[in-house]
Order: sequence, then structure tokens, then C-alpha cells
Amino acid sequence: MVNQLNLNWPEFLEKYWQKQPVVLKNAFPNFVDPITPDELAGLAMEPEVDSRLVSHKDGQWSASHGPFEQFDDLGESGWSLLCQAVNHWHMPAAELVRPFRVLPEWRLDDLMISYSVPGGGVGPHIDNYDVFIIQGMGRRRWRVGDAIPMRQFCPHPALLHVDPFEPIIDVEMSPGDILYIPPGFPHDGFTYEDTLNYSVGFRGPNGRDLISGFADYALENDLGGVNYGDPDLTVRDHAGRVEPHELERLRAMMVEMISQPEDFKQWFGRFASTPRHELDIAPAEPPYSAEEVLDALQGGETLTRLSGLRVLNVDGKFFVNSEGWNPADVQAADALSRLTELSQDDLGNALQNPAFVEELTAFINQGYWFFDE
Ligand code: SIN
Ligand code: CO
Repeated sequence: MVNQLNLNWPEFLEKYWQKQPVVLKNAFPNFVDPITPDELAGLAMEPEVDSRLVSHKDGQWSASHGPFEQFDDLGESGWSLLCQAVNHWHMPAAELVRPFRVLPEWRLDDLMISYSVPGGGVGPHIDNYDVFIIQGMGRRRWRVGDAIPMRQFCPHPALLHVDPFEPIIDVEMSPGDILYIPPGFPHDGFTYEDTLNYSVGFRGPNGRDLISGFADYALENDLGGVNYGDPDLTVRDHAGRVEPHELERLRAMMVEMISQPEDFKQWFGRFASTPRHELDIAPAEPPYSAEEVLDALQGGETLTRLSGLRVLNVDGKFFVNSEGWNPADVQAADALSRLTELSQDDLGNALQNPAFVEELTAFINQGYWFFDE
């Protein structure tokens, strides 16, 4: 691994995570950019990659979504090119996410990379996720304000900005520095140089996401089909009122649905293992037989997990890319959820279990894991 992260995680989590923004100077000593601006531009031309161009010229903000066909008319100043989920598409860049695997995978969103030319940036804004902004090539001035209520407005339909703010952090970042910003703290990056920034983002679901996600699961699985009942109903003198005990009974019906531990786990596993950005899935061609998979592992080959694929152990239940998996070997399934690279030792006795080897072979043939060349 080229870039090594130097961070005291226990101290960071206690003092800053979800609490305060902080500059971690030289957190990646001798930082080496894993991608070039040209490669990033190439990704922004791909329809599968979620990309944006934001420009600020003569006081006018504008923004457009990729894929882009060319970048000829941009000029040398006042714009930024941003690509989401580069960790799904560019393996050297994906390496930057690896040191963050001390945080739970289900909280990870993606690696966003921005390339800015002098005067470029997305403007002052607030994010609703935790972000580690790693400074790559060039230097960039970052200002972060306090998390106080602020007016938000759209200087362009695709941009949400905040009013100018008093900085509590005002720093010039150099390659290898990290700026950590919790949700809700306004920030703004400004550059006089061509610069690359890598944002490792962690987004927690909001209540709306949870309720609507659970509702989808309930519909798909035919849950909650029993209607409200009131055999204890009595004559009303005000037919237009909904009584508190009725509200309570309705609320109890809803709470009861999410309180079924098995359903809650099954739903959450599917929900949390669903990637928020497209994956670069390529089924194995030609497909492997179970014997070939076994031979490869026993011959010392390593299995690599498709970058961005979510493999979760939700309190003993396993989920791979939005689907439940009832594994033939729980320990090996746990290793597959814990590690992104595995050798035969990590899978232990499971390789003696033909049912497990079949399951693994099916995943490999789907393109979820692959053998390094
Ligand atoms: C950027 O890299 O320019 C934007 C990152 C951010 O503000 O979250
Ligand atoms: Co931001």
C-alpha cells in the first residue's frame, strides 16, 4: 500500500467524530495521488459514473451533471470536476478507503474525488454526512464554520449554498493533510492552484430513509396485513374526533411491525448492504467450477472483494449486495464480511465443505469476488 494513514483512531473518535471538525496535518505522510486529473476526467465521461462540473465565473454559479463528452471550453480557472464513488471504478483510488475500515462498513458512503483549477470549488455549503477530505496534489484553503442554524439557498438549481460564515477553522491544506468535518458544519474550499481532493464520506440514514426502506420491505414481504380493530368501540357524541387511545393503538401497530427482531434484521441487512452508487460488476467469463475455485485457493491465490460491494454480518445474519445469505459455513461467511482480501487460511475448514465452496463459486461467478491475476 502506497499511502499509510497515521491517525490515532480511539482519540479521534472520542474527541472529534460527529462532534467537531479537525485538521489532521500530514495524516498521510508523503502522500502520493492515486489518480491523475486526466484519469478523473476520463471517469466523468463514463455514463455509469456519477459526475458533476461546478463553475464560478464572473460571480455566476453553474453546475451540470455528467457524463461529459469533452472539457475543451472550460478555461483555466473557476471550475471543479467532481466524481462520486471513484472507489467503485479505480482500484488505486479505492486503496484510500482501506485505512477507514476501522469504522463500520455500513456507515461508509463512498470516495468522491474533486479536481479544481484556480478559483474552483463548489462554494460554501453544508453536508449531511461525515467527511474526511484528504488533500492531494496542490494546496487548497479550507474554511469551516460552526454548526449553527444558517440560511440555505440555491445560487443555481443544482447547488445548495449557505450564507457567508465566520470560520472556526481556516487552513491551507497540503498534500497528505486531512480535514474531518462532521455533518452540519458549513465549509468552503478555495484554491489558487490545480488541486485534487479525496472525500471519504460516511452517511447515516435519516428517519425518512428508514421508514420508507422498511415500508418497501413490508410491501415486498406482505407484512402488516392485519387491519386496525376496535371491538371495544363505544358510542361517540363527537364523530369527528380521533381519541388519544386510538392514536396510541395506531402507533402501537406501527411500532409492533418494526419491533419484530427477525424482520427488522432481515430488512436492515438488505437495506444497509445496498450500494448507494453503481458497482463495476463483471460476471466471471468463463464461469468457474467449484473445483477450480478450490484449486485456486489451495494453490495460494487470493480472493479480492469487488470494490464497493457491501457484505454485512447483521447480528449473525449475512447479507451480500442487498440479498440475504444463509451460509453453509458461518465462520467463513464472517471472514468474507470482515476482510476484503482473503486466502485459504482465512476461510479455514469451510473449504472442506462442498456446499460452502458452491456458494463461494456462485459469488465469484456473479463477479462479487475475483482472483487477483
Ligand atoms: C470538494 O472537494 O471540492 C468538495 C468536497 C466537500 O465540500 O465536501
Ligand atoms: Co462538503
